[in-house]
Amino acid sequence: MDDTLEPLPYIRPTLQNMGSWNPTRLLPGERSGIVHRMDLNECPLPPSPKVIEAIRDHAHLVNRYADGGCPELTEKISAATGVPVDCICWGTGSAELLSNIVRLAIAPGDGVVAPTPVWRRFHGVFSSLEADVAHVDIRDDGSVDPDGMIAACGGKTKIMVCVTPNNPSGAMLSEAEVRKVAEKTPDDVLLYLDEAYYEFARFAGGPDGLAILQAHRKGPWIVTRTFSKAYAMAGLRMGYAMANNVHVINALRSLTGTFNVSAMSEAAALAAWEDQAYALRIQETTATERRRIVDGLEEMGIEALPSVTNFVSAPLDRPAGPVIQAMKERNIRIAGWAEEGYGHMIRVSIGLPEDTDAFLTALREILDAG
Ligand SMILES: Cc1ncc(COP(=O)(O)O)c(C=O)c1O
Repeated sequence: MDDTLEPLPYIRPTLQNMGSWNPTRLLPGERSGIVHRMDLNECPLPPSPKVIEAIRDHAHLVNRYADGGCPELTEKISAATGVPVDCICWGTGSAELLSNIVRLAIAPGDGVVAPTPVWRRFHGVFSSLEADVAHVDIRDDGSVDPDGMIAACGGKTKIMVCVTPNNPSGAMLSEAEVRKVAEKTPDDVLLYLDEAYYEFARFAGGPDGLAILQAHRKGPWIVTRTFSKAYAMAGLRMGYAMANNVHVINALRSLTGTFNVSAMSEAAALAAWEDQAYALRIQETTATERRRIVDGLEEMGIEALPSVTNFVSAPLDRPAGPVIQAMKERNIRIAGWAEEGYGHMIRVSIGLPEDTDAFLTALREILDAG
């Protein structure tokens, strides 16, 4: 392997010496044995049986490029949300969309307002684009600070990234707070709401961010949601963006992969969308296991942040790195927080009851062992 630190003239300065990054990598031992995957905020349940049937029924179509507009599903989402069909587009997960949403707004030196800590992917996108980022600290409960975000907008700001519920904290904004962001973000700033955990927020009684933007925002906005989390389809890569105008969607579409979604994925997402009873079961089991994790942490004297999502974050009384490593050696994968100053935080994704048991038992033993 060539691990030279000399800059390579044909790679942009912000992309030099990136190191290898693959959070989904399975170690050789993890491929065969039991692994408690509690680090990537996946759904531990398989998708609805109807989704699996739809995949089977459409598998023979993979010799063709699909209609990347996902017309049938787009119609349904349009009918459910009131967003016109030409203001909706699809990506290989919302991750593909979020990179390109920032890209469509930002040239080197342009301003972004974003919360910190926030999902790590955003930092990579901002730095690769040489964005001038105003990092706005999240509040003590882990939610985005609406007043801080609004105050951080300046003359150079092109886009505000608002993540609710936020990752890695799990906390959401209230209806009044989303409304404030919608109304007070300057009209020449693209307001981007990442609602990857939207369904969890709704189940917990939280607001519909999209509906609030539709009702109250005069300036431009875009919202992303995903089938990865609440519909148990992370591996199929289906996310969608909805915007207030077709120009934003057309620009986004021009930046996303030409052949980014498959007929199989569209059919699967359609089946998932129509099986809301199954999606509700996912919400119920997530809430039950989340409660068990929060209670189990509390019994160890650890106070988790208030999460409505399929993950929970909590502060330890020591650096999290060695604890995360010790858990990994027991085949339990959990995550830390990437940002400086948060090295004592762990983030654990909600799993099956046996994952919860394994996590709580191992954490207690590791912490007791000092
Ligand atoms: C806040 C947030 N946005 C977007 C994503 C991307 O998810 P996907 O690409 O699977 O839709 C994630 C994944 O964990 C996330 O936490």
